[in-house]
Amino acid sequence: MNVGDIVTRARKREPSPETMLTADRGNPDWIATEPREAFFLLGKFGLAESRLVWDEWEGVGGMPSKPHIHERYVAFLQGNRDEPGAGLLMRSLDYVTNMLGLDPDAFVHELAGSVIGDNYPAPDRMLRCCEKIVHAYLVKEMCASKPPARPYDLFATEGGTAAMCYVFDSAMINGLLKRGDKIAIMAPVFRPYLEIPRLDRYSFAITEIHDDAGLTELADPSIKALFCVNPSSPPPVMISPASLNKLAAIVRDNNPGLAVISDDVYGTFVDGFRSLMSVLPRNTIGVYSFSKYFGCTGWRLGVIAINQDNVFDEKIAALPAAQKRALQRRYSSITLGQDRLRFVDRLVADSRQVALSRTAGLSLPQQAQMALFALFALTDSGDSYKRVCQGILAPRLQAPRPEAQANSTPRPEAQANSTLTREMLVPPPRKLLPRRGYTGGGVGVGGVCGLLCWDAPRVSRAKA
Ligand SMILES: Cc1ncc(COP(=O)(O)O)c(C=O)c1O
Repeated sequence: MNVGDIVTRARKREPSPETMLTADRGNPDWIATEPREAFFLLGKFGLAESRLVWDEWEGVGGMPSKPHIHERYVAFLQGNRDEPGAGLLMRSLDYVTNMLGLDPDAFVHELAGSVIGDNYPAPDRMLRCCEKIVHAYLVKEMCASKPPARPYDLFATEGGTAAMCYVFDSAMINGLLKRGDKIAIMAPVFRPYLEIPRLDRYSFAITEIHDDAGLTELADPSIKALFCVNPSSPPPVMISPASLNKLAAIVRDNNPGLAVISDDVYGTFVDGFRSLMSVLPRNTIGVYSFSKYFGCTGWRLGVIAINQDNVFDEKIAALPAAQKRALQRRYSSITLGQDRLRFVDRLVADSRQVALSRTAGLSLPQQAQMALFALFALTDSGDSYKRVCQGILAPRLQAPRPEAQANSTPRPEAQANSTLTREMLVPPPRKLLPRRGYTGGGVGVGGVCGLLCWDAPRVSRAKA
């Protein structure tokens, strides 16, 4: 496209191909600073530990050693107490030992090795301490602090995007979904979730659910899966507690095998949010991304959560014998032929074509930063960061859409899907609402996604 085209399109207010491509990719225009400061200070510690182990040659270090590492860490933090990030690193040590019961040497050793990236991810699904920390974070943010009866197994991924690809892929490979299956999608939905099921590989028959009444469609056991984005985008609304209960009852009584895939990336912006992973833990594959809340799309941090008590493992166990044998062959290099491999471990193996699964997993520095984001929220007892995020979004909900937002208007079919009723969905809490005239859904096309990036002037301390 040449400059003339761009000018003409801008005059006509037509979206350019570039804005069309990024319309569904809301990139926050703020970042959480303290967890990053903690990451960089942690890097200094990791390198000091490395040099302590091996300083024979200039420019070469060793791999941090575990015995007494937490004592050296405390001494390091005391010596650097005025450095940015030291406070969070100290609070985190306190939190993981007192609240999560982690061994301090194991925690510090995992962090020090991770920040310098000295090894392959082990376990490949997720590092041990990091998993416990992110689990606590998901219980706080996705389950309104109510722990599930059985824990979730987590798989750290390269953002929510990779998580979704892995879920679709493994569900097909392991017979949980078949080409042409009937699936339901709660509309409106993140546009790729409408596009993926239509790919030839899947060719799913799609039922769209637009309102509370539509939930009854899920009572049909021939509907194999439900996909939803909760809170949705656009518009920024979440499934109401009443509809969550109705959905849970339908699944319990009529369609107990339903697979629910819930993308909850915007849940963290809402006080007391409850995901379907909390309401229907046996049936739900939870997908969470750190991208939006912490302004870290460039880090690529996401997680898949599957409860240890789940319908997916049961369905795999009940597959016809021939299909089970074929799957045993597929995974034989990592299981010695047994068929007891859980779905979550199949996801990890499939993410690297099984053959490369010994080098699978999210990079260690990514997991270190993910743990620090989670610890930043877990140690923020007054949820002050959440209040700040809500404060950033609130005026955007009230303001008329700026030009940039107008340009990122989704395609007509995506807009046509924005017909949710108030019975099914509740608006975000009062803090996020415009003061006048909330109409149940149409605030700023682009929803939460669109509100994350704004053209309005920002306050800069440098200029103030
Ligand atoms: C609903 C939803 N899910 C997932 C993503 C992608 O998340 P990630 O950056 O973690 O890949 C987006 C990005 O805009 C989104 O809006």
